[in-house]
Formats: sequence, C-alpha cells, structure tokens
Amino acid sequence: MSAAKISVAKKAIHHIEKKLSNNMILGIGTGSTVNFFIEELSRFKAHFKGAVSSSEASTKLLEAIGIQVFSLNDVNEVEFYIDGADEVSPNNYLIKGGGGAHTREKIVASASREFICIVDKSKMVQKLGAFPLPIEVIPESRSLVARKIISLGGTPVYRNNFITDQGNQILDVKDIDISDPEKLETLINNIAGVVDNGIFAKNKPEVVLVSE
Ligand code: A5P
Repeated sequence: MSAAKISVAKKAIHHIEKKLSNNMILGIGTGSTVNFFIEELSRFKAHFKGAVSSSEASTKLLEAIGIQVFSLNDVNEVEFYIDGADEVSPNNYLIKGGGGAHTREKIVASASREFICIVDKSKMVQKLGAFPLPIEVIPESRSLVARKIISLGGTPVYRNNFITDQGNQILDVKDIDISDPEKLETLINNIAGVVDNGIFAKNKPEVVLVSE
C-alpha cells in the first residue's frame, strides 16, 4: 500500500513541478498519502513560497522540512490543492474525513484554483457510501444531529476519543443513500449544529491521479 501511495505522490509532483513559481502558495491536505507527498515536496521547497495547511498534523510535517505555512487569511491565492480521499466516484465526487480533517480540507480546496486528488486504486468506487460518511458536529448538537441523520435513513456512530482541530466531534454515518452527492452534501450541512460533512461534490477535484 505504501508503494502505491508513494507512486501517486510522485505523479502529483510531476503534475505540478514545472508550474511552480517563487510566489506560489500550495494547499496541502491531510492523511497518509499526503504525508508521502510532503516528503516528495521537500526537494522542491525552494521553488515556491509556502503552503496553506488543512490540519495541525500536516502543518507540523511541512514546518519540519522547512516549508513556511501561512494562514489562509494571509494569502490571496492558492494555486494547487493536493489531498487524498477515502472514496472517489466515477464523476470525481469524494468522501473525505477519515482522518477528521474534512472541514478545513474543504475550505482550502474551495480556495484553490486546481484541486488534485491523489489516491490508490482501492479508493475508486462505483457509488459513494461503503466508507462511513464523516460529519463534524458542534459537541452540544451531537445527539440532535444524530436523530436528524437517522430520519434521513443513516446510522450515525459517534467517533470515540476524537476531537477535531476545531474542537468538535465526529459522527460517522453508515447506510445513507449518496446517489445524489450534491443534494445530500447541502441537506446535511443545513442541519443546525453540523460544521461540515465529508462529501466533496461542490468542491470536487479538477484532477484525480490514481496509482495501482
Ligand atoms: C483526512 O480527514 C481525510 O480526508 C484524508 O484525506 C483521507 O482520509 C485520505 O487519507 P489517506 O491518504 O490516509 O487514505
């Protein structure tokens, strides 16, 4: 599995390396595939200005190899956003958030000109939903949101011993029908107390790179 992740991380480097420039800011996702990408990016750190990070974990890795991390509030443009996914549909819709970082991931993806999703082929599915859909919730609203999700046909499971970078909790939802990802993404996000859910339909990637 590591070999596949390293190989797709290299593909992403190949995709961007000739387009890097001194004042460019890159958006960096979260997860084991992105960790390999960050390692590969180390060699090119003099070729761009810095990064906006989607998580505390990625920030640590970036800073450890000498890449400057900026707040999204302090940058005008993010050229490329590179991130993994938990599932990718034939239309490039995604489920993300297995690592609980999807809220900031979606923010940085939406701020970027080109979202490059990097996955091994085990993530490619015909239909989203075998991977439980993560929903970040304000702690006080967890039970309320869970009841609303049950009324939509889903089975929410509280992610034990996990707090997001924003100080919130995660419900992982099984059995929910994701045949219309755009509609469900909006429907869930309209429930009071939901911070964001892991469907990336409105912010789907422009490019999906897959390795064996
Ligand atoms: C983090 O919350 C997720 O959205 C990750 O991007 C996703 O889980 C992919 O992670 P891996 O590269 O570790 O499979």
